[in-house]
Amino acid sequence: MTTNHRIALIPGDGIGAEVLPPARQVLDVLGHRHGFSLSYTSYDWSCERYLREGAMMPADGLDQLRDKDAILLGAVGYPGVPDHVSLWGLLIPIRRSFRQYVNLRPIRVFEGVDSPVRGARPGAVDMVVVRENAEGEYSAIGGRLNQGTAEELAVQEAVFTRAGVTRIADYAFSLAARRRGRLTSATKSNGIIHTMPFWDELIAERAAGHPGVTWDQELIDALAAKFVLDPARFDVVVASNLFGDILSDLAAAVAGSIGIAPSANLNPERDFPSMFEPVHGSAPDIAGKGIANPLGAIWSAAMMLDHLGHPAAAKDITDAIASILAKSDTRTRDLGGTATTAEFTDRLIELL
Ligand code: NAI
Ligand code: MG
Repeated sequence: MTTNHRIALIPGDGIGAEVLPPARQVLDVLGHRHGFSLSYTSYDWSCERYLREGAMMPADGLDQLRDKDAILLGAVGYPGVPDHVSLWGLLIPIRRSFRQYVNLRPIRVFEGVDSPVRGARPGAVDMVVVRENAEGEYSAIGGRLNQGTAEELAVQEAVFTRAGVTRIADYAFSLAARRRGRLTSATKSNGIIHTMPFWDELIAERAAGHPGVTWDQELIDALAAKFVLDPARFDVVVASNLFGDILSDLAAAVAGSIGIAPSANLNPERDFPSMFEPVHGSAPDIAGKGIANPLGAIWSAAMMLDHLGHPAAAKDITDAIASILAKSDTRTRDLGGTATTAEFTDRLIELL
């Protein structure tokens, strides 16, 4: 009997809607080959919906997703809608309600892609940023007082819990043990004197349970410099919500194009669906032209297959990505080519 997976598709805004159909084409090819099927339910939740109906998703939106096996999201964001609306009205409720506390962002410099960083040789850079995704600096605790006066002030609290840091540390150490056995923890315990020393203590505590992993910690500012100067030295990098967000965009840029970078928001216990989405946004500057690079979405779909228990199918996708970048002239404009999204996808499917 073929396994069927129920997938929620949320294309979102802008190029989100242009990169999900290619991902779906690729998924369907692999389903045939590896003996599973996928059934899709599409949702129009987006900033466009917000402008029309006053909310990014309906009041029972999360309940509609709850019984799905995974969520594949394009991107949200629309000129005229403040970015905190799209984030707090859709992405953050999904990530937090479904306890997707791991945000996984792999970075590779592929053969055939020019990194803007001289030392980033193809094949040598292969790392994963493990970002804490449910607490930390992105909290709604705080407020503003005396607005519009000379005494105006804003306070924003960061929230770090023993449970939250412990589970992200354990996830990152286990991942490092399955990879090259090296972990770097991003910190700032010299300047941030309560939460970051707590983070450091808990990382060290969890390290004891993973003797096979060599680990160190780096201050975030120095770490940012090392991402540029010597990206090949990193294997797994674990970071708080804010630090992980910044580091992973930096790392995606080192890899050559934000159009390639994928991400997974994981609920490792599988009590809830996990969500897979390219790192890039809705790219209003190129939306509607059919020229977006679909690789970020396609690689995200590969991460989804891995999570759903099809690692061989996922590897077929990453192999095809490596091969189209190394051997083919067909590429989208962000990588210096002239191919449209559809032409590029057709070529990738041939290679598959
Ligand atoms: P962006 O990632 O949308 O675009 C940055 C630059 O990269 C643009 O020049 C764009 O054309 C290019 N680019 C991005 N993805 C590409 C692709 N697949 N192929 C070719 N070129 C690509 O970031 P930006 O411009 O800062 O944000 C635009 C909107 O997207 C904003 O509303 C923002 O809030 C939202 N956004 C949403 C995210 C999400 O849904 N998770 C993540 C990041 C931004
Ligand atoms: Mg970001």
